[in-house]
Amino acid sequence: MIIAIDGPAASGKGTLARRLAEHLNVPHLDTGLTFRAVAHALLTAGKPLDDEALAEKAALSLDLGSLDRVILSAHAIGEAASKVAVMPKVRSALLEAQRLFANQPGGAVLDGRDIGTVVCPDADVKLYVTASAEVRAKRRTDEILGRGEAADFDQILADVKIRDDRDSNRAVAPLVPAQDAHLLDTSKLDIESAFQQAVSIVEKV
Ligand code: C5P
Repeated sequence: MIIAIDGPAASGKGTLARRLAEHLNVPHLDTGLTFRAVAHALLTAGKPLDDEALAEKAALSLDLGSLDRVILSAHAIGEAASKVAVMPKVRSALLEAQRLFANQPGGAVLDGRDIGTVVCPDADVKLYVTASAEVRAKRRTDEILGRGEAADFDQILADVKIRDDRDSNRAVAPLVPAQDAHLLDTSKLDIESAFQQAVSIVEKV
């Protein structure tokens, strides 16, 4: 069974995807980490984020097994990732690895922006997880403060809106719910209730 989970930044899709994968005992790929890793490679090499040839090279040499969630989770890397994610060559280089992961025997859970629309259009279950920009910015702020780092809600809200706009309006694989996706608005749900709703959707399939 392939489960595709899409949605904007800090919608709760990552936590939901991880918990569903544990519940079903199948592997999980956070595809956002793949774009983050490409951005991180360019940043650490001191290269511009719009160098498509270099970004493609970084994408082609990515090892899905060694993505460092802690390093790649930095707020600034999410912003940089959305810049490399507009480049078609980066997307097609990563697409192959993402599809291979999805099609392993026994199934998988993948989360991102275009899983139900592009990476796995035939997924068995598609969820589109969303929440208001304010709720998402609050979650991101609390998460950063929780790590003992400084965070400014207004700045994070502005960043969330810029990222939504870039992800939704790019030419290739924009963020949009698949026509057959189940919508899950987590604005007023805690993670436990969102998880229970997701499980009941999956169990119906
Ligand atoms: O989900 P996360 O915030 O880690 O994603 C970082 C960025 O990577 C997103 O803002 C988006 O631009 C890009 N992304 C994408 N397609 C995916 C997953 C992430 O374009 N499937």
